[in-house]
Amino acid sequence: MSIQTPKIEKKVTLTTIAKMKGVEPITMVTAYDALFAQLFDGEVEMILVGDSLNMSFLGKEDTLSATMDQMIYHTQAVCNGAKLPLIVLDMPFGSYSTVDDAIHNATRAYRETNAQAIKIEGGKERAHIVEALTQNSIAVLGHIGLMPQFLRSDGGYKIRGKDAEDIKHLLEDAKALEAAGAFAVVVEGVKKEAALAITEAINIPTIGIGAGNVTDGQVLVWSDMFDFFEAFTPKFVKKYGKGAQMIREGLSAYRDEVKSREFPSEAYTY
Ligand code: KIV
Repeated sequence: MSIQTPKIEKKVTLTTIAKMKGVEPITMVTAYDALFAQLFDGEVEMILVGDSLNMSFLGKEDTLSATMDQMIYHTQAVCNGAKLPLIVLDMPFGSYSTVDDAIHNATRAYRETNAQAIKIEGGKERAHIVEALTQNSIAVLGHIGLMPQFLRSDGGYKIRGKDAEDIKHLLEDAKALEAAGAFAVVVEGVKKEAALAITEAINIPTIGIGAGNVTDGQVLVWSDMFDFFEAFTPKFVKKYGKGAQMIREGLSAYRDEVKSREFPSEAYTY
């Protein structure tokens, strides 16, 4: 049974998020523009300007070709629309391959947008990059488990944490990111048992997507959850609205009324 929760009225900070671990589940959705970010303001603690926009809004097959310029442009728009959530810019593939690239690009993210944090994919092999960023005052949201930017090197989207050996690797990843200074970690596409083990093993919040209800928070891609993105639906996506149907019905009514000259009636005419 769901409960009615109050709207968020104060600016969400890194401290707010840290204090929520073990106290109250954290809500996060993606946003890519000011119009929708404004609708999400006060409804969720965090907004991710995800590189998923490359698929859901640019129609590409994967996230790999997203660019830093694109992420900055969309994050500026989201920051214009939403004032209360903690906004995270998702660093695109190739923008943090070396410490120098990571610092250069994350500094751009901070200088050119009002994002309060950036997100990078990768576990212990990327911990030195997370450490370099956090030591340069850039807040980092980690991302482990199924990592869309590793699609080609992993040979597809693979659910993680299916055996003890893989759970051990995931725990090492999560602990390395925590030690490197990440303020929270997205845990994507892992078995529930693995998500629970990770959540219990670290003191920073875990934000799950396709990881069951045992993480400290949840994130969903907004166009998936409102059924605008129809190319495919992963098992973990619950639809909270019928976006595509609403648009099609509206456009069909508009077409009928324009063709029949019912629109614009006198009420819409000067
Ligand atoms: O790009 C994105 O939207 C993401 C989420 C799926 C976590 O990384």
